[in-house]
Amino acid sequence: MDTIKEYIDQHKDRFINELIDLLKIPSVSADSAFSQDVLDTAQAVKNALDKAGCDHTEICETPGYPVVYGEKIIDPELPTVLVYGHYDVQPADPYDLWNSPPFEPVIKKTEAHPEGAIYARGACDDKGQMYMHVKALEYMTQTGNLPCNVKFMIEGEEEVGSENLAWFVERNQEKLKNDVILISDTGMIAKDVPSITTGLRGLSYVEVEVTGPNRDLHSGLYGGAVANPINVLTKMIASLHDENNHITVPGFYDKVEELSGEERAQMAKAPFSLENYKKALDINDIYGEAGYTTNERNSIRPTLDVNGIWGGYTGEGAKTVIPSKAYAKISMRLVPNQDWEEITRLFKSHFESIAPDGVTVEVKPHHGGQGYVTPIDNDAYQAASKAYETTFGKTPIPQRSGGSIPIVSLFEKELKSKTILMGFGLDSDAIHSPNEHFGVWNYLKGIETIPWFYHFFAQKEN
Ligand code: BES
Ligand code: MN
Ligand code: MN
Repeated sequence: MDTIKEYIDQHKDRFINELIDLLKIPSVSADSAFSQDVLDTAQAVKNALDKAGCDHTEICETPGYPVVYGEKIIDPELPTVLVYGHYDVQPADPYDLWNSPPFEPVIKKTEAHPEGAIYARGACDDKGQMYMHVKALEYMTQTGNLPCNVKFMIEGEEEVGSENLAWFVERNQEKLKNDVILISDTGMIAKDVPSITTGLRGLSYVEVEVTGPNRDLHSGLYGGAVANPINVLTKMIASLHDENNHITVPGFYDKVEELSGEERAQMAKAPFSLENYKKALDINDIYGEAGYTTNERNSIRPTLDVNGIWGGYTGEGAKTVIPSKAYAKISMRLVPNQDWEEITRLFKSHFESIAPDGVTVEVKPHHGGQGYVTPIDNDAYQAASKAYETTFGKTPIPQRSGGSIPIVSLFEKELKSKTILMGFGLDSDAIHSPNEHFGVWNYLKGIETIPWFYHFFAQKEN
């Protein structure tokens, strides 16, 4: 195992170039214009798994985009690690905000990444992080250092809700049988502050539509005499938070897990600079729910946010019009014990109930999923912790994340196994934003750390 550093040194240029090739394929799952590219990416991932030493790989069809499966079983008696990742990416628009085209990867040096970072959509989320596992497998098979069995399940619909992965998991319980699930699709606190993600938030995503008059109207002839759906919608949205920024949907907080003072004190120990946080975002102050710190607001507390709002005239110049309709997309990030389907129902009935006379309101649920917390007093977490100790020289900090990977709670339910979230991205890597990137240092550090997880995990189980 001590040869991992040398192996990376010898092969790092190829590791980077292979990732760059993968990033050139625009596997945007949300936009059907890219469907052939998504399929091509699945094929590329399969080929990479073949080359890395899997002895069986397969492109598994689903009602949507396929799941790429690969395995190397060295001894059925030994423990099995199931690696999950996704090969699809978020849409890249708005394209004009990218400093270089999103699917023409370039390496550039930045303040956070003096060794250089790869700029491309999916660089960090999740092609780069997923590919660290493929290269870690290559090292372990090439050098005779694979201490246990490994299975890969790489999906193509994570960014659109993983609906067909749930379908696949339900039908392939035996094939996916494992002792632990390993995922790199989250982040870490900083390059010199390693952390392991111990929680993910759940999600309920809805779209709302407010309808007023049966057609767009002259805003002079009708203005003031009929309900304007945009005025109404914005007022309804504004009422969803009170003056303390608590969410006003009745029952919303009923099942929210309250952390003990001790747990909160533990959380507060994670290094955090408010000044740097504000500076990185060019904001003059933070904003959020009264009574909670920034790190609590974005991890252990639920939220409600408008992700997009539209209606009426938005073209050039001025058109005097009262629109017939107004729309918004709203996401609610949830914490453990909040059931996303129940929250969706509570939101729907509340939102419909606050609609004034003169408009009708429709709430359409999109996707969602449950939150997840993983305990740290188990062999798998300890193996991950030791792996970081070995390669970073520091004990990683357990930290809950604000993001969501809804399929993780389903893994626990269907496959009865725990998930370890070893993320190597930084918050500043701009995932889902223009100019997404992934540090070369982070990429190689991930490849170095992962084999140590296998090493310690296999020891523990025997
Ligand atoms: N990898 C992210 C989730 C993430 C990022 C978790 C960073 C923790 C830290 C994932 O690809 C993602 O974007 N998930 C979506 C939810 C999904 C249902 C579209 C999200 O969190 O918005
Ligand atoms: Mn992801
Ligand atoms: Mn994502």
